[in-house]
Amino acid sequence: MAFRSPFAAVPRQLWGNATTSTLRSTSLKSLVSRGLATAVPPVTQNSVGSKGPTAMVFMNMGGPSTTDQVEDFLSRLFSDGDLIPLGRLQSYIGPILARRRTPKIQKQYADIGGGSPIRKWSEYQCEEMCKILDKISPETAPHKPYVAFRYAAPLTETMYNQLFEDGFGNGKGGRAVAFTQYPQYSCSTTGSSLNELWKLRNRMEGKRADGEVDQAGAIQWSVIDRWPTHPGLVEAFAQNIEAQLQTYPEDKRDKVVLLFSAHSLPMSVVNRGDPYPAEVAATVHAVMQRLKFSNPYRLCWQSQVGPSAWLGAQTQDTVMEYVKRGQTDLVLVPIAFTSDHIETLYELDLEVIEEANSPGVKRAESLNGNPTFIQALADVAHDHLQKGEPCSAQMTLRCQGCRSERCLEQKKFFAGKRLSSLVL
Ligand code: FES
Repeated sequence: MAFRSPFAAVPRQLWGNATTSTLRSTSLKSLVSRGLATAVPPVTQNSVGSKGPTAMVFMNMGGPSTTDQVEDFLSRLFSDGDLIPLGRLQSYIGPILARRRTPKIQKQYADIGGGSPIRKWSEYQCEEMCKILDKISPETAPHKPYVAFRYAAPLTETMYNQLFEDGFGNGKGGRAVAFTQYPQYSCSTTGSSLNELWKLRNRMEGKRADGEVDQAGAIQWSVIDRWPTHPGLVEAFAQNIEAQLQTYPEDKRDKVVLLFSAHSLPMSVVNRGDPYPAEVAATVHAVMQRLKFSNPYRLCWQSQVGPSAWLGAQTQDTVMEYVKRGQTDLVLVPIAFTSDHIETLYELDLEVIEEANSPGVKRAESLNGNPTFIQALADVAHDHLQKGEPCSAQMTLRCQGCRSERCLEQKKFFAGKRLSSLVL
């Protein structure tokens, strides 16, 4: 997740990254030139049109694709008050903290191949999902892939400009779906991305005139804000776990402990009422149900740093404790990210597993290009497009401890006329 180091005031690791312009200009063009995709016409509908094209925007935290991008990435991350509340001096302190952390984090990215793979995977997943959507949802086709990262290229602003270039908005209307790639909702991740999208939308298309009605020709946004127990997501996780279990001798297989690992949260965020811990637990339970509870399991939390209290137990401590007790067959399962990133490739693979120093301690593969997962993305999006809801009812409810005007206004915006009365 995107909030690891920040909260600790001394981030230890980061996450992945991409650009919609690159995505659209290279990937799509190359597909067209190879005869694998059809060139998409510009938006021609008016603001009340209900048919495609539909922009499908994957939101995630992103990550530096090269070590040169690490400082900018960290600087944006430390400047995000939704992620790391540093008060009025945030824009001054954030870049200083980022500069201090940069050499160490650059070294970590160098150790995993020179950068985060999150951009590559996000672009691939979104393109492949759109191809499926074109087939199963012709009434909203063509579906056009975009990626908007919170802290790395392609940033939300880049994505928005690309939408304009492609004929959405600016008086031409069009529909766009903000699809969070965090299956479980946290105000620190999806909430932060939506706050950014709302802010930029207002800046680039103007605030709603009477607070409720969009200007003529503005982009019509809706949000897929969570999907923690979608059967396709659960199936993809379960298949990767089963594949890793197959690598153990048959007589040991059902004794292997499954350790689901998710990015932790500071307890101050948990106690504010953040829904993330419950939603991660729901994913774990659904996966275990699909596996018929074949193995013992635990959910633990990784990447916490600094002196403040974080949600535990910590993944590294959990692994070391079980290994010490003689349970040396463990499968780590990253359960809250949809592709590899520094927490899997560096923290789990190069820190936790190496330190365990036991051949029975392994990791289930990340979802990455898994076809079952990409079909699940298309199914989630298809359901959303069919329902025609602006967001989930659950998204309208602010955390009990939230005092943020930004959260309040953002939720009212995305809830629209139909659901805004639910926003508290
Ligand atoms: Fe959760 Fe504002 S912090 S809604």
